[in-house]
Amino acid sequence: MESMTEQALVIGQEEISEGIFSLWLLSKQIALQSKSGQFVCAYSKDHSRLLPRPISICEADRDGGKLRLVYRVAGEGTKEFSALKKGDTLRLLGPLGNGYPSGETLMEKQPFVLVGGGIGIPPLLQLAKDLPGEKIMVLGYRDKLFLQEDFAPLGTVVIATEDGSAGVRGNVIDAMRACSIRPGVLLACGPMPMLRGLKQYAQQTGTPCYLSLEERMACGMGACLACVCKTNEKDAHTQVHNRRICKEGPVFNVEDVCI
Ligand code: FES
Repeated sequence: MESMTEQALVIGQEEISEGIFSLWLLSKQIALQSKSGQFVCAYSKDHSRLLPRPISICEADRDGGKLRLVYRVAGEGTKEFSALKKGDTLRLLGPLGNGYPSGETLMEKQPFVLVGGGIGIPPLLQLAKDLPGEKIMVLGYRDKLFLQEDFAPLGTVVIATEDGSAGVRGNVIDAMRACSIRPGVLLACGPMPMLRGLKQYAQQTGTPCYLSLEERMACGMGACLACVCKTNEKDAHTQVHNRRICKEGPVFNVEDVCI
């Protein structure tokens, strides 16, 4: 499906944890076409910032034409977005990238175990909504929790915190072991050390695994090449073992990428 540019209307925005914002937008065409695991590029109104910011889609209300973006303020662009109020507009390009496999493809692999770390948690919310069947969500935080209440009605939620202030003390793999979770398939998004740990876990246990490498993206548009990752297969066009995360990903089968 082609991506498109849309002038999205801000419905509302709130800070749901320190420096983490939840932005609801009216963006009919992009919401309608979005698949879980895809992202949008959001444009600054300051034209000195030429490159847009890639932000993952947290929820897509396809019938209502609404998109929810949950992002961390990490620079001037996202700082500008965090000041948006109801009635403001934001130019978006999307939906972009290749998302997670669909529920029909994965049906035989229940329970689906969705693993998110930090700002990798938001894109798993739409995935949890789209997947039918048994779901376990393992959410890893440094300390403060966010979005856990949105996941609660969708399946079993297991929390891990580095400081032990909630759930299991440790990382997401510690939490899976502590709760004796046996995934039929792993679907994950989060920081690279977490993804490397999950790749090792998947290989040791023979578990199918799909990882979103979105943390490595910069421009999100295939322009800067900051996001290339090594792959096992040669790219058919370029004959190199590289893929751009923003174009061919951000979601990859773990067997296809070297991380
Ligand atoms: Fe710039 Fe992929 S993020 S090319």
